[in-house]
Amino acid sequence: MKIEFAPTLPVGSHLLAQIANKDTLPGDLEKALGEGAASARFKGGAGQIFEGFAERDGAVVRLALAGAGAPDADGRSANLEKAGAALAAKYLTSGEKTLAIDFSDGALSAEDVASVLLGVRLRAWRHDAYRTKLKDEQKRSLETVIAVGAPDGAETAWTVAAALADGVEFTRQLVTEPPNKVFPISFVDMCREEFDGTGAELIVLDEDAMEKLSMGALLGVGQGSAQPSRLLAIKWDGGGSEAPTVFVGKGVTFDTGGISLKPGAGMDEMKWDMGGAGAVAGGMLALARRKAKANVIGVVGLVENMPDGNAIRPGDVLTSMSGQTIEVLNTDAEGRLVLCDALHWAQTEFAPKRIVDFATLTGAMLISLGHEYAGVFSNDDALANDLLAAGTQSGDKLWRLPLGPAYDKLIDSQIADVKNVGPRPAGSITAAQFLQRFIHDGVAWAHCDVAGMVWSDKPGATWEKGATGYGARLIDRFVRDTLEG
Ligand code: BES
Ligand code: MN
Ligand code: ZN
Repeated sequence: MKIEFAPTLPVGSHLLAQIANKDTLPGDLEKALGEGAASARFKGGAGQIFEGFAERDGAVVRLALAGAGAPDADGRSANLEKAGAALAAKYLTSGEKTLAIDFSDGALSAEDVASVLLGVRLRAWRHDAYRTKLKDEQKRSLETVIAVGAPDGAETAWTVAAALADGVEFTRQLVTEPPNKVFPISFVDMCREEFDGTGAELIVLDEDAMEKLSMGALLGVGQGSAQPSRLLAIKWDGGGSEAPTVFVGKGVTFDTGGISLKPGAGMDEMKWDMGGAGAVAGGMLALARRKAKANVIGVVGLVENMPDGNAIRPGDVLTSMSGQTIEVLNTDAEGRLVLCDALHWAQTEFAPKRIVDFATLTGAMLISLGHEYAGVFSNDDALANDLLAAGTQSGDKLWRLPLGPAYDKLIDSQIADVKNVGPRPAGSITAAQFLQRFIHDGVAWAHCDVAGMVWSDKPGATWEKGATGYGARLIDRFVRDTLEG
């Protein structure tokens, strides 16, 4: 989607749109349109659309009113995004190639305009690369959005929002690509390409390097796969001498369950078991593209979990990089095995002030919070509160769940230091307790279980059904509000 700015309406055929507020239509609207909108019960609610026709410069044009809710409402920018997103949803495959949004009545600020455009871009994203037989009416037609008469500063505001859109789209692409396209090595390659020229530094550990570091847990998960495992760090040093903030992502590019094989139905969904890693990569891309003034590192553990003659077995004992031994009782509880080595390495290597991991860790998370909130677990109230606030601000919502010694003892093992599964109750919490055992003294840590959030079976306000891009905006917002002051 091309986004352009122009002082006046373009010549030639295009769709025209204006943004309406709750209960107030744009002032200069033709009588017929105003009355039409009223009789169609268009009230300017967020995401509401009314379509009519108007005469401009002697030509009849299709004109859409998009509602952005009340100007003083909470979440106004989300509502402005909804206005843009509703336009994208309605006209993406309409046959229209160009959408001109007329901002020249001056009602919206530069930031507001950027929010509308962000909504358009996010809602317009689809992955059509492998759909070679789409009928014309199924193909996307909309190519260009022109912001007409936007106030000074709108283009600058848009460059920041566009970086965020780049990040969200990268997360979605990584999550959407099938598992024969996204595997550890190709994930790294896609990042190399995307971060090229941004100034971010990429560090890649192959299996030999991880072997030397004794990452027996992460390597154990990958040992049944024909695809070699990787650990990738994306370093963005935007200034400051402070210790970095580190984000860690679970990147299981496909999770069959391993020898503890998952049931067949719906197993294809486990292509998005790298959604935590996708969020971290997309979040880092947004930060790098908008040149965030902060010192941030993203670390992703990349493996494929397959059953094989060489795969780990239930009952195996693995030695993690931290030296702690792990009894593997279920090879399908693999995410924590990947994360424990990634977390330990990240703390050893980068001595972070704060470390936050993202993982599609437990099915139990969908049972507790469904698809509305990701769960957050933390050893530090200030960090948890900062994340909750960033969740509210970004729309990538979080809800805090508890940790505690009574849960922790549920994963004591008889033969090793810890076992990789607890009893069925509180499955998301015992998974978090497992990770906490790998957090070094004095490090503020939070774990976000995003299992219910990275994929959606129905379209949302700003996404087509499929990959939501969850997490990229949360990371961007968290960095903006806690590190960039
Ligand atoms: N990737 C899954 C968790 C998951 C399941 C995410 C469904 C999204 C939707 C994870 O690796 C897993 O298999 N977890 C097990 C843990 C259990 C064996 C303790 C689970 O949740 O069933
Ligand atoms: Mn699993
Ligand atoms: Zn998994």
